[in-house]
Amino acid sequence: MKTSNKRILVTGGGAGIGFSIAKAFSGNGNQLIITGRTESRLKSAVAQLENATYIVADVTSETDVNNLVKEVKAGGGLDILINNAGTGVAYNLLNGESAVKNGRYEMEINYFAVLNLIDQFVPTLKESKEAAIINVQSVASYVPSAILPTYGPTKAALHSYSQSLRITLEQTAPNIQVYEVFPPLVDTELVKDFNGPKLSPDVVAQDIVDALQQNNFEIRNGGAEHVYQLHLQSPKEALALMNTMEATA
Ligand SMILES: NC(=O)c1ccc[n+]([C@@H]2O[C@H](COP(=O)([O-])OP(=O)(O)OC[C@H]3O[C@@H](n4cnc5c(N)ncnc54)[C@H](OP(=O)(O)O)[C@@H]3O)[C@@H](O)[C@H]2O)c1
Repeated sequence: MKTSNKRILVTGGGAGIGFSIAKAFSGNGNQLIITGRTESRLKSAVAQLENATYIVADVTSETDVNNLVKEVKAGGGLDILINNAGTGVAYNLLNGESAVKNGRYEMEINYFAVLNLIDQFVPTLKESKEAAIINVQSVASYVPSAILPTYGPTKAALHSYSQSLRITLEQTAPNIQVYEVFPPLVDTELVKDFNGPKLSPDVVAQDIVDALQQNNFEIRNGGAEHVYQLHLQSPKEALALMNTMEATA
């Protein structure tokens, strides 16, 4: 698909991978809308982008999302929805923390909020000539990491859902393509306490632009492709490789 003259919404676009995605789409006649909970961050991000606005919104808040949908529709609709906002809790399953509490918190942001945004924006995306939904997942969608014990399941759920969504839209609204992004460890605030090689968020963002232009629906950035291939051949070896990563915190 084309990556110019589009109206694009990036959740969590004020920082990390989301801000890099917004930068990569900035220009070329694109109109960007970024969201997040921290206004100061969004303001400073928008100042560095071309033709961009921000809407403060917590993706887990029904009121905020209703307002976001209303404002985006009123501003001219939407061509590309990028579900990037996400979180992860690093902890050891036996350290006494509640896996239910952590898992619910992560699921609300990484999974249910994405489903809600897609439910709410599909009618608008249907009106676009050429539209896309891009879900930022993780290499942990395929292979779990024990230091993020309840984060991986949120991304695995999102991968499963995204595949069902792609099949459904192919049959009912073929103007909307579904893309999935599977980054490895990326150099952002989210994983600042993690050891190991980290990919630049700008590389992840450029991969997304390139993939859209080539209609490549599954984007595995950097070392994620190797982990994926290994997982297909030997799930046991892929699991061992994923779990060489250690948190310093
Ligand atoms: N970094 C990695 O190694 C890595 C690897 C694989 C996948 N990912 C995925 O990539 C995505 C981006 O992660 P990142 O590393 O860029 O994280 P980050 O640096 O922590 O940035 C997360 C962004 O999401 C926003 N956000 C968080 N919770 C939100 C909420 N409830 N409502 C609205 N916005 C919210 C944050 O802004 P506010 O706090 O201001 O709301 C921030 O802009 C996530 O889905 C993550 O799971 C990251």
